[in-house]
Amino acid sequence: MKETLEKIHASALEAIEKIQSTSDIEEVKNTYLSRKSQLNEIKKNLKDMSNEDKRIVGSMSNQITKDIEEKLNEKYQFFYQKELNEKLEKERIDITLPGSYTPYGKVHPLTQTIDEIVEIFQGMGFSLVHNENSPEVETEYFNFDMLNIPKDHPARDMQDTFYTKVAPNVILRSQTSGAQIHEMLSSTPPIKVIAPGRVYRCESVSARKNNLFHQIEGLLIDKDITFADLKGVMNEFLRLYFGSARPTRFRNSFFPFTEPSAEIDVQCIMCEGKGCRVCSGTGWLEILGSGMVDPNVLKGVGIDPEVYSGFAFGMGVERLAMLKWGIDDIRLFFNNDARFLKQF
Ligand code: DAH
Repeated sequence: MKETLEKIHASALEAIEKIQSTSDIEEVKNTYLSRKSQLNEIKKNLKDMSNEDKRIVGSMSNQITKDIEEKLNEKYQFFYQKELNEKLEKERIDITLPGSYTPYGKVHPLTQTIDEIVEIFQGMGFSLVHNENSPEVETEYFNFDMLNIPKDHPARDMQDTFYTKVAPNVILRSQTSGAQIHEMLSSTPPIKVIAPGRVYRCESVSARKNNLFHQIEGLLIDKDITFADLKGVMNEFLRLYFGSARPTRFRNSFFPFTEPSAEIDVQCIMCEGKGCRVCSGTGWLEILGSGMVDPNVLKGVGIDPEVYSGFAFGMGVERLAMLKWGIDDIRLFFNNDARFLKQF
């Protein structure tokens, strides 16, 4: 028995000598110290031995166990530190390496313009129209009929309006004015809303015209609303958007859904009124259409024009952005060339 124990001890020491890593240590530990190890088997059998043998074999096997444990512990300290050092060396961060660059995005200039205009009108108490009251896929009924635009009006011509194959009267809206009708049908005065959104026109694309562009529609309906209210709100908007020093003028105009109608101009921001290419020599830039809501339109949506009155307005977002930033081609907004977009 003594010999067996010595053999076990010797073979364990030999195995310990060969250890090269912490996982080798686990293996050796398993072989020599686990419950199923030879050493443990011997310890289990102690109870059947004579007292004399019990004493000798017991103390010997305990000493061997202790020795193996101690030596393994030393090895562990050594290899644990060694492996840790190797790992730290391998995972060292080179802070002199250039970082990876993530290009950041920006809000599109048209979105910026819409946000700015919406904010100005919200400051005057207007709220955003609900999405369902401002659909891009429209019917002729909302885009034209209810806005007092007669069946033979040239705006309905195939050249201006995109018709769909869904049904003969389903179109892509050519103006945001239909949102006025949806809003008046789904709520009751007082109404004070703005509706920004996309509109579509079947035209040939050029530096000044795109098939898709954006408008912001406004509508205010209440008791005792007059043209003076329209003028006050529009002037305040233009003052906030273009700056206080810019003169404005109201010009008599015609829209089927407003009576009277006015187009509003600001003094040309390129030449300051002297006359240039941008303003075609007039010194003025056309900014938006507006007017008092036609009584026929009010009647159509069941609002009594004897009790209520109101005004509406509509403006082109691309045009306002082009004027503010001096952009000379509307197509730039839609090409999404990062070199253009990152300038705003
Ligand atoms: N919808 C018109 C257009 O696309 C713009 C417009 C003019 C809107 C007068 C209005 C308005 O609300 O009152 O040319």
